[in-house]
Amino acid sequence: MNTTVLIVAAGSGSRLQAGVPKALAALGDGRTLLEHCLESVAAAHASGAIELNAVAVVLPSRQGAAAALEDVCRTFAAHRGITVRSVPGGAERADSVRAGLAAVRALSGETAPGERHAVLVHDAARPLVPPAVFQAVMTALGEGAAAAVPAIAVVDTIKTAAGTDSGGERVTGTLDRSELRAVQTPQGFDLSALEAAHRRAEREGPAGAAALTDDAMAMEAAGHPVAVVPGDPLGFKITTPLDLMLANALLDPSSP
Ligand code: CTP
Ligand code: MG
Repeated sequence: MNTTVLIVAAGSGSRLQAGVPKALAALGDGRTLLEHCLESVAAAHASGAIELNAVAVVLPSRQGAAAALEDVCRTFAAHRGITVRSVPGGAERADSVRAGLAAVRALSGETAPGERHAVLVHDAARPLVPPAVFQAVMTALGEGAAAAVPAIAVVDTIKTAAGTDSGGERVTGTLDRSELRAVQTPQGFDLSALEAAHRRAEREGPAGAAALTDDAMAMEAAGHPVAVVPGDPLGFKITTPLDLMLANALLDPSSP
């Protein structure tokens, strides 16, 4: 299936506090998170897991950072012979995805009747996703799913909590862990269906759109079943400095 990968890389990385937008933060090998993420897409393409049409990358609007990340995209495109288009992002992740979807549509061209285009929406903050995860998502789409997400089991006990009058918190319940999944990216979609789902979320106003922490949520709200496929522990998201340490340890050839 003709597939365009949409990498969202426009976040500021406020929890990582690297002093630069997160996609520009370097891992121990000196390569940026965006470069690692692009290389994982190229590896999936080379392995045959995805039939890659092009990559759209959504970048922060901060000028210096955008220029540096555009350079990363250009170098990657030239080196791998893959078409890469970059566009500026928005305030929330969902705004960035919507900006990226317009670029994906332009890269995909018109969809002929009966033809399906797939889009894989992927966080730049997940630099180490193995090809098997891309493969599993594409297999689900190939079998007819309009949406497919990689997920792993939750290992912690998850409780709900609410504030108390004294300013503390108390537990209000415990969720059934056997039903919980930690969802990763790339998330795969039928392109036309995801465009329509995002338009629907946008009609619900800024609060509705801001509440979308992933794209499957927009599809769920539009009534589409979302297939769950095996994720991988290596699909973890770099959110805090501890995550960066883990990624660096995994990349360090001398670590056991
Ligand atoms: N993202 C984006 N545009 C935004 C916010 C997030 O493209 N306005 C992207 C990030 O670049 C990241 C992915 O969405 O690749 C997941 O978001 P998250 O891990 O929350 O990254 P940040 O928003 O950058 O980090 P933080 O929330 O700590 O500021
Ligand atoms: Mg964020």
